[in-house]
Amino acid sequence: MLDIKIEKTTSPKVKPDYTKLGFGKYFTDHMFLMNYSTEKGWHDARIVPYGPLALDPSAMVFHYAQELFEGLKAYRRKDGGIQLFRPDRNIERMNNTCDRLCVPRLDPADVLQAIKTVVEVDADWVPYDEGTSLYIRPFIFATDPMLGVHPSHTYIFCIILSPVGSYYAAGINPVKICIEREYVRCVKGGTGIAKAGGNYAASLIGQQKAEKLGFAQVLWLDGVHRKYIDEVGAMNVFFVIDGVVITPELTDGNILPGVTRASCIELLKKWGIPVEERKLSIDEVKEAHANGKLDEVFGTGTAAVISPVGELYDEGETLIVNNNEIGAIAHKLYDAITGMQWGRLEDEMGWIEKIN
Ligand code: COI
Repeated sequence: MLDIKIEKTTSPKVKPDYTKLGFGKYFTDHMFLMNYSTEKGWHDARIVPYGPLALDPSAMVFHYAQELFEGLKAYRRKDGGIQLFRPDRNIERMNNTCDRLCVPRLDPADVLQAIKTVVEVDADWVPYDEGTSLYIRPFIFATDPMLGVHPSHTYIFCIILSPVGSYYAAGINPVKICIEREYVRCVKGGTGIAKAGGNYAASLIGQQKAEKLGFAQVLWLDGVHRKYIDEVGAMNVFFVIDGVVITPELTDGNILPGVTRASCIELLKKWGIPVEERKLSIDEVKEAHANGKLDEVFGTGTAAVISPVGELYDEGETLIVNNNEIGAIAHKLYDAITGMQWGRLEDEMGWIEKIN
């Protein structure tokens, strides 16, 4: 159990308009911090007013990107209470990312306590409006002031909070996605499976290209064969072909093991809807589309929730999916998952962790 010191702000911020939140633009009054050193381990857990951090310009994170993050949300129930969705999964994935990036692991119970405590301190920032939540961004970065390329001996673990609406400007309406043929997001043996900030830095060039062409995100293909579907920039991806739900398998280590992804697979299995985790090539997707068998495409993620894809663009060719409308399976998953998250439906899977 952590001994978390709490220093409250003396100048609380004015809250934003909760009907126009967008994603990740506003931050709450407080943040959680904890330090690591080889001698002391993780220590000095504290909640302080949200604000800039002072770091040595030589801090390793600035040079070699030894940084990782997580993303989860706190949801406001109708009765005013606040709850989390499967935080244990995010914490487990954070520790797996720590292993990949040579960062010392944290005690999962300490991380959960830190998340719950900082959310409680800023509880009045958890929005009430339909479709809104408090996005929780835990992250860890290397702080050794030194330029040798080695794992750092010191780190900071920080948690910041941001009231959010939908990730995409389109909301639950289908998004347009562009297939990337030139760049890849990751390679076998790389860090694709980990939630490393560097993965997202490497993806920005594709994202920038896609945005210039008017698309919301990039669909990444595998780095070896350049033909199997990996994932979309900020979400995992599912295809429904002839009634079977297919999502790329995790086994090559290049797909982020999304919490929403796992939850969708578990729900589909429970409902008896056929679901396969396997390699899926872009050619198979195009063939299914040509034969009228590409029923649905949708992305899943904490930020994106369930986001239908209405249009796939690849080198001059546009595939319109399901008439640019949300499909039945994406809709069913959306209703079930958001129903549990906001407490409108019974937590029959045991996925909810109440804060109060
Ligand atoms: C999330 O869904 O929480 C993510 O981390 C995606 C993010 C890069 C916006």
